[in-house]
Amino acid sequence: MRKKSDILKNMPKSIIVETNGKVVVGVYGGKKSLKKLKHKKLKDIFDAKAYKRLKKLRKKKSKSSVISWDGQEYGAYYKSDVFYFYDITAYFEVESKLKQSLSELTSKKEELQAVFDLAANGISILDRDGMFLYANKFFQNMMEYTMEELYSESCISLSSAEYAAPSKTAVEKAIEFGSFEKFKKVCVTKSGVHLNASMSLAYLESRDEIIMITSDITEDIMYQDKLKKQVEIEVAKRSQQHEIMCHQSRLAAMGEMIDSIAHQWRQPLNSLGIIVQGLRHISSQKNIDARFLKEIEAEMMQKLNYMSQTIDDFSMFFRISKQKESFNVLKSIEDAIRLIDIQLKNYNITIKITKDESLDLSVLGFANKFRQVILNMIHNSMMAIVSKSVKNAKIEIIIKRVKNNLHIEIVDNGGGISREDMPKIFNPYFTTKDKGSGIGLYMSKVIIESHMNGLLAVKNIKDGVKFTIMLKKGYEDASHS
Ligand SMILES: Nc1ncnc2c1ncn2[C@@H]1O[C@H](COP(=O)(O)OP(=O)(O)OP(=O)(O)O)[C@@H](O)[C@H]1O
Ligand SMILES: [Mg+2]
Repeated sequence: MRKKSDILKNMPKSIIVETNGKVVVGVYGGKKSLKKLKHKKLKDIFDAKAYKRLKKLRKKKSKSSVISWDGQEYGAYYKSDVFYFYDITAYFEVESKLKQSLSELTSKKEELQAVFDLAANGISILDRDGMFLYANKFFQNMMEYTMEELYSESCISLSSAEYAAPSKTAVEKAIEFGSFEKFKKVCVTKSGVHLNASMSLAYLESRDEIIMITSDITEDIMYQDKLKKQVEIEVAKRSQQHEIMCHQSRLAAMGEMIDSIAHQWRQPLNSLGIIVQGLRHISSQKNIDARFLKEIEAEMMQKLNYMSQTIDDFSMFFRISKQKESFNVLKSIEDAIRLIDIQLKNYNITIKITKDESLDLSVLGFANKFRQVILNMIHNSMMAIVSKSVKNAKIEIIIKRVKNNLHIEIVDNGGGISREDMPKIFNPYFTTKDKGSGIGLYMSKVIIESHMNGLLAVKNIKDGVKFTIMLKKGYEDASHS
């Protein structure tokens, strides 16, 4: 019987009952109390229903049977005088769990279906040829096909002609690489409307199917186009405005310049007037001293030359240079000062240039634009000083090297800029002057930062303000500092 108990080791919930036909000769497995069944008749152990089934088994009228015994369900088999009972309660439990899982699965499937149908994107399942196996409501509505109609369509047949081949490739790529994302194409609905769509495909290997998400991006594309057009219009408007401002700034500078010429010419014109009056006096004399006349001529020529030089300076200032050129910042600053010198003298303002000796002062850019910046700065300082009637008025221009850059500081003692004006001074049209255009500093910033790749900064100092123009110079010799 060793063999039978070995079998039991592998089936711990089983009972083996050995008989000699009608009487039990051995019981293996189960509770200990079952041992007492030895020598008892089967008829006395099992109820009538169970006994009947066991008899059927013994007569081989059935292969297996379900027997209720001692409050439990057993599966029973019979072979050569031995009955094998297997506790099948566990199987019932598994069965009921299985049933439950199945119903949960069904409700999950319904849930998933609802999610698919509620999704605001087209979701469809395709076979490996791209034929539709399923499509959610959104996709059906978007493409104007019913599910029945979609069964005979494919993602290729619903593409516009030029996208048929790329759609086929997309399906193949999804199968090869597992997914193919954000593929943009044009789909054609049943009524022939062309839709811009973005598709993402994922290959489900275990089912050999493709899940495809389709988004209608027609509106997005239209919106993007609209936005692009708006930006283009805006940019055009801006550059037009910028052009106008450049023009205005040149006009403003020209105004300042004419002012300056008027000042510069006043004195020589006055002298010329006196000389001409003197001439009339001389002409009334009988003996005209030729030497004296020559002296007068020389003096008149000198004045006229000076006036003509002023005009030359003026026209040079407004000559437009189209190409960047190397120029010397010190020379440009001196040129600018020369144009405003007389006015500064009239207002008793001293101007001084300080610079590091042996510093390379050549810079690449537009010399006339740079002069315009310096002139505007000096003019601003001058106006601040004049409006505050500053005593001991001075403007200092300091040229120095800071690390690898060239700094030009324009410092005045004109009283500085108020705290609320400070953030606005570089804005176009911001001015605190009655006749100011407010473009000077805006243009200066554009010239230094956009055209010369530098920086323009401002800071209030003790009695005035300090503007700093920072230009990249890339000095290589570290001995200068
Ligand atoms: N050195 C300075 N001291 C005090 N305030 C200044 C100085 N420089 C500029 N500002 C202030 O900044 C404002 C703007 O200067 P900006 O040069 O842009 O225009 P503007 O001088 O008013 O007019 P424009 O230069 O076009 O004739 C001035 O109106 C003034 O209030
Ligand atoms: Mg100004």
